[in-house]
Amino acid sequence: MTRVTRSHQQRAAELRRQLEEHNHRYYVLDAPSIPDAEYDRLFRELQALEAQHPELASADSPTQRVGGVALAAFAPVRHRLPMQSLNNCFSAEELDEFDRRVREGLGIEEAEYVAEPKLDGLAVSLVYERGCFVQGATRGDGETGEDITANLRTIRQIPLAFRESGNSVPELFEVRGEVYLPHKGFEKMNAEAAARGEKVFVNPRNAAAGSLRQLDPKMTASRPLAFYAYQHGFHRGWTPPRTHADVLAQLRAWGLPVSTLIETVRGAAGCLDYYRRMQARRAKLPFDIDGVVYKLNDLAGREELGSVSRAPRWAVAHKFPAEEAVTVLENIEFQVSRTGALNPVARLKPVFVGGANVSNATLHNMDEVARKDVRIGDTVVVRRAGDVIPEIKEVLPDRRPPHARHVQVPAHCPVCGARVEREADDVNPRCTNGMSCPAQLLGALLHFVQRRAMDIDGLGEKLLAQLIEQGLVRTPADIYKLGVEQLAGLERMGEKSAANVVAGIEKSKDTRLERFLYALGVPSVGEATARDLARHFGTLEELIGAAARDAAGEGDDSIKAKDRYAELRKVPDVGPVVAAHICHFFTEPQNLEAIQALRDAGIRWPAPKAAAGGALSGKTFVITGTLPGLGRDEASALIESHGGKVSGSVSSKTDYLLAGEAAGSKLAKAEKLGVAVIDLAGLREMLGGSG
Ligand code: IVH
Repeated sequence: MTRVTRSHQQRAAELRRQLEEHNHRYYVLDAPSIPDAEYDRLFRELQALEAQHPELASADSPTQRVGGVALAAFAPVRHRLPMQSLNNCFSAEELDEFDRRVREGLGIEEAEYVAEPKLDGLAVSLVYERGCFVQGATRGDGETGEDITANLRTIRQIPLAFRESGNSVPELFEVRGEVYLPHKGFEKMNAEAAARGEKVFVNPRNAAAGSLRQLDPKMTASRPLAFYAYQHGFHRGWTPPRTHADVLAQLRAWGLPVSTLIETVRGAAGCLDYYRRMQARRAKLPFDIDGVVYKLNDLAGREELGSVSRAPRWAVAHKFPAEEAVTVLENIEFQVSRTGALNPVARLKPVFVGGANVSNATLHNMDEVARKDVRIGDTVVVRRAGDVIPEIKEVLPDRRPPHARHVQVPAHCPVCGARVEREADDVNPRCTNGMSCPAQLLGALLHFVQRRAMDIDGLGEKLLAQLIEQGLVRTPADIYKLGVEQLAGLERMGEKSAANVVAGIEKSKDTRLERFLYALGVPSVGEATARDLARHFGTLEELIGAAARDAAGEGDDSIKAKDRYAELRKVPDVGPVVAAHICHFFTEPQNLEAIQALRDAGIRWPAPKAAAGGALSGKTFVITGTLPGLGRDEASALIESHGGKVSGSVSSKTDYLLAGEAAGSKLAKAEKLGVAVIDLAGLREMLGGSG
């Protein structure tokens, strides 16, 4: 061990300053300025220096975040100022009430509030003595919490020391805020727990709580916790500014993370507007929030209003409606989809959840029913988040009544009575009746007429159901036989609307091959694949021919699985599973008859542009980034008009990547696969200066 010199001391101080700065940039500002490896190098240099000269060690050194030994228990910490809770409001009316009390209490016309996200984590108190983090505690009962300093030190977003901010540093300052677990960290933690065969956490809040209450700080350090500061607590040697917004700005300047979602708003109307915007953003945020908090901005006004029973009069939490509720599952029924799949649907005792009354929830498929062990009569947790379809999250087995019973997949279709079959590799049992099943027919027709398919105006679900019931429509082609007289005879249909529907039907006859292919409802062929098929084959005859040739190889055992459906798989983005579906659809005699009937009814599309012989004939392009002065669609049209094809994703089948400005992952992939990359000038050159 060598003697500590002044230069050692200076170097250690300099390293700590640099490391704290990089820490702040990385964890608080989300804007790192040096590579990780460089940070590691500085860190190791400081570690080595401190190991060589133990007298250099200091509690606020970044090397000391994870230190000390495991505790036997947490020591109690008495809060210098109680940690209060918030009153809740659940509606615009209750918010108005709160705002009215604030205005009347202060005798003002309009109040200014700071609106903040209400993070769903754990409240903590951080005490800084002359800018150094000395003690951290849980909220506990509000009066006394637990000393979790060692655990909080492991959270990189919590500065061990204030950044110099020009202002003098208070003698004592308490920061209050929330420790939470971002979704990514939660998923990572649970994946790791599952891999070790351990129990997973039910939600990020529980996982954060469990992580903070670890007696060994090394455990806490391994959990990806995060922190936001939202409030000041006790202080000595500090003059508070005039407003809460100023306090938050000061916290930021000291290096504490403060949410960028926080805004200053005016009156109850401003609060409500903020609430609605946060609710809309909620699902996309990287962490859970369970509502928003409004706080009077003016600190003097806060003093004047004071508190009632452990909650301030100057703040309120506006909670989002609960996304989960408990109810009884009264029955499980089966809905028949357009492809014949029997989808289990839960019929529930109506319950208010996610801001609406819910009496049906999806159970997805029978595998899901088995996995969750859902039985009729069970008490279940229903989840409805945002605009998503309500679903059964879980069963509460402790509340299962003795008469609860399993559901059986019916042997016959609940709509048409035909036999139900389940193929080995299919999660869904299916009705075997095809278009002869009214439910499948209705599903198929709704798909057929939709805007992105044949685009027939005026043919809605109610009308189609009537047409099916009356036996007027048995196949999609029957739609084209409908006349004004037949339609006008139906419920809620006059001459005029009937004429409109007929005109809509007539107009839809002029279409494009890709729309027609999509309208057919080939399993696993969406709009993008339909477009790729149309571009690749150019004509329906070519496509049907390729399907027939691929089908001929199906029974040939000498062909390896990876070489099957070779012709269909030449289409960009078509893999073996999709190719099999396409092949089966276009070789099934019933389907070919239905297609012929539609063509006989007058459905037509333009012939493919003279592709062969074009400068780009046989070449597949992918477009990425922004092209100077040329939209995506225009670029596609340009390529296609010269015989080229345009695909959505880069693969080994791609010949050229046409890259514009700000090209991203596609460019990287193309470079990795050795695909030629060209710009717009390069493309024009290939076209011989034309286009
Ligand atoms: S302020 C006196 N602001 O909500 C004011 N709390 O029921 C005290 N919370 O225990 C809290 N986000 O855990 C405040 N932006 C925020 C908050 C927030 C979440 C939690 C906190 C507190 C509880 C109040």
